[in-house]
Amino acid sequence: MSPTAKGLILLCRPGFENECAAEAELLAKHAGISGRARTAQNAGSVHYVFDELIDWKEALEVAPFHALVFTRQRSVWIERVAEMPEDDRVTPLVQTILGQGVRFGRLEVETADTNDAKSLAGFLKRFIPHIERHLKATGFLRENKPELPTLHLFFKDSSQVDLGLSRPDDASPWPMGIARLRMPRNAPSRSTLKLAEAFDALMTEEERAQSLKAGLYAVDLGAAPGGWSFQFAERGMHVFAVDNGPLADSLVATGMVEHVKADGFSWRAPRKQVEWLVCDMVEQPARVAQLVSDWIASGKAKRCIFNLKLPMKKRFEELKKCRQVIDARFKLHGDSYVLRIRHLYHDREEVTAYLAKIHVPVVETPKPSRR
Ligand SMILES: C[S@@+](CC[C@H](N)C(=O)[O-])C[C@H]1O[C@@H](n2cnc3c(N)ncnc32)[C@H](O)[C@@H]1O
Repeated sequence: MSPTAKGLILLCRPGFENECAAEAELLAKHAGISGRARTAQNAGSVHYVFDELIDWKEALEVAPFHALVFTRQRSVWIERVAEMPEDDRVTPLVQTILGQGVRFGRLEVETADTNDAKSLAGFLKRFIPHIERHLKATGFLRENKPELPTLHLFFKDSSQVDLGLSRPDDASPWPMGIARLRMPRNAPSRSTLKLAEAFDALMTEEERAQSLKAGLYAVDLGAAPGGWSFQFAERGMHVFAVDNGPLADSLVATGMVEHVKADGFSWRAPRKQVEWLVCDMVEQPARVAQLVSDWIASGKAKRCIFNLKLPMKKRFEELKKCRQVIDARFKLHGDSYVLRIRHLYHDREEVTAYLAKIHVPVVETPKPSRR
């Protein structure tokens, strides 16, 4: 028997619960599923509870991970184990997991990203190995089987845990959706991690292989002090770093970066086409959306990663407006595009997006044969 879903467990940056709930609500409505979001201010998580139980695989399709922006990780909520006794928490949890009748390829242990939840770290470090041992011994946890679902254990505290399911290809690859990246030596700013995370979170392996290689050209609008330009320069790529502010000496010393002191809204590259445009200017989001879609739709750059700094009280509405701006620009010439947006772990009051034009192969019209 396949487990039934009570709803969705959604993790987000504390303070973004309303946006996370709003996107779940919208997707559920599109899928014809009714329910309601349960959360609290700064909880760092949202439970979207369905009005009726549905099959867990169907529930996954209600809110595909790629369609979510403010949600760092989501799983389908199948069960809750509450009031686990202090002297034996292992037995009730293991019994409930085995009772689902599902085999897992991976176990993800989760909490909200809050200070309260962080205090659970010591307890989880001691407790989880017991659970893992039981699941492996009974054959329920079978690592190296990527086709099997992932089991998420979302701990509210040491006595309550929610069981969730996801598929590895439809979830964040990072536990709790948190990309823990190492700060590269010599990087001019921490902002470099944002672009590094964006490459991983927003692009396919094939896209990365095609576009992040020595010799290609990138334009970085709002580049100073140079954390984003650094990501290209260290891959042997040439960068036009556009900003009136100063760039880090170490970046200029690489010889890969040309500092252009100009306005990022009016400057254009001295090349017909560059591989990359990136934009981290702190500006009105709709203005940035218009600028980057002009570059991509007109073919001046093949692909783009950009930040949209969202106003705190209208993040969801503003993002919708930016999508409309981009859509309108591409529709002008009937072009198709790919747009992926995510509130990255390294983002604060902004979201990061990837935009590229989709090239539809030209199909030659067959000439009628002459007889
Ligand atoms: C958040 S910082 C960029 C940080 C950079 N991505 C990094 O990794 O180091 C924003 C930058 O945008 C620049 N900026 C803002 N408006 C601009 C404009 N119209 N043209 C060029 N640069 C602009 C600012 O001078 C500032 O250096």
